[in-house]
Amino acid sequence: MPTLITNIKELLQIREGSVSRVSGAEMKTLPTLKNAFLLIDDGLIKDFGKMENLYEIRVNEVIDAKGKMVLPTWCDSHTHIVYAGNREGEFVDRVNGLTYEEIAAKGGGILNSAKKLQQTSEDDLYKQSAKRLDEVIKLGTGAVEIKSGYGLTLDAELKMLRVIKKLSENFPITIKATFLGAHAFPSEFNNNKEGYVDLITHTMLPKIAAENLAEFIDVFCEKGYFSVAQTEKIIVAAKTYGLIPKIHVNQFNSIGGIQISVKYNALSVDHLEVMTTEDIESLKNRTTMPVALPSCSYFLGIPYAPAREMIDSGLPLALATDYNPGSTPSGNMNFVVSTACIKMKMTPEEAINAATINAAYAMNVSETHGSITKGKKANLILTKEIPSYGFLPYAFGSNLIDSVFINGKQIKN
Ligand code: NIG
Ligand code: FE
Repeated sequence: MPTLITNIKELLQIREGSVSRVSGAEMKTLPTLKNAFLLIDDGLIKDFGKMENLYEIRVNEVIDAKGKMVLPTWCDSHTHIVYAGNREGEFVDRVNGLTYEEIAAKGGGILNSAKKLQQTSEDDLYKQSAKRLDEVIKLGTGAVEIKSGYGLTLDAELKMLRVIKKLSENFPITIKATFLGAHAFPSEFNNNKEGYVDLITHTMLPKIAAENLAEFIDVFCEKGYFSVAQTEKIIVAAKTYGLIPKIHVNQFNSIGGIQISVKYNALSVDHLEVMTTEDIESLKNRTTMPVALPSCSYFLGIPYAPAREMIDSGLPLALATDYNPGSTPSGNMNFVVSTACIKMKMTPEEAINAATINAAYAMNVSETHGSITKGKKANLILTKEIPSYGFLPYAFGSNLIDSVFINGKQIKN
């Protein structure tokens, strides 16, 4: 039996099914309907329109949204939420003046998380991760991509990917898995980096593909991590197993990661804190979605991705959290949307587009998520009473979410 939401003050992000992403100046528009209704049936958006055009219909439940807004749930296309423990100690080290890179050089960073994860059982890892997932759903996230990359051995990478699989079986939201074995070099490969690349391409990838544990391949392409040549080798190997590239590039340095990613039609390139004019040029007229992670810049005190320059050059842009223990211990997409406006000078319309329709594209779910479109999943945010949608980024730090609908089912906070 259907559910009807009535008297919606403003229904946001209404798109034709044919629209899978918006670029450049189009990002400034956010199609909406004031004083609207929305009908949910069978977990999907069945219909919507102006209240004056509402017709007689037998429903199970009517939810009065007077003064409140409805928008599609956020899609978080870049996270590392399956991790063990935390890195609060490193946070304090940074407060005391060490940089993220200095901490990593001392054996902290990703290797620190890998050590913890290797010692954590699959069950415990599942429990820790499920708690984070529960939290982000209540914060309005209705689809999430999750990476491996804190295992760095065959067994531990498989453990992470199996946890991601179990989360996707047990949670109602859409979850996409990414294999990020190339996140850092384990110390035993310090003098044999190619040996680790071989382990990834010859041992890990075939096993992961055989168990169908990942849809995407990721590499941390960065000075001190994986070179452009190593990134290319891994992308090429992964493509033979049908994995689609989504690559960490340009977080600290511009070394050619964007060019190699677009060469192989990466679905997305993520981070982009350090961008040259050539990098922006390389992304023009491509299917690759640039993804910015402003919470990471906020937490590490590194530059923000130059969103204005990218959008003003006609590029699309998506936003994601990067939720992980080292650079972004937060999975709050509302904070991401606010920070994109406050620090990256994106307008509320641009930020909402970046966190919904473009974010859905960046994780290959735009057919079912990212907009108010008939037939898409009824994954919705019902806001509290707010004067205008600009209030979402403006009132940063306030929780303005009344409740979230996943597959049409209301989840109350
Ligand atoms: O996206 N940059 C690479 N990976 C993560 C951080 C990893 C960590 O510090 O644990 C990121 O920021
Ligand atoms: Fe990341």
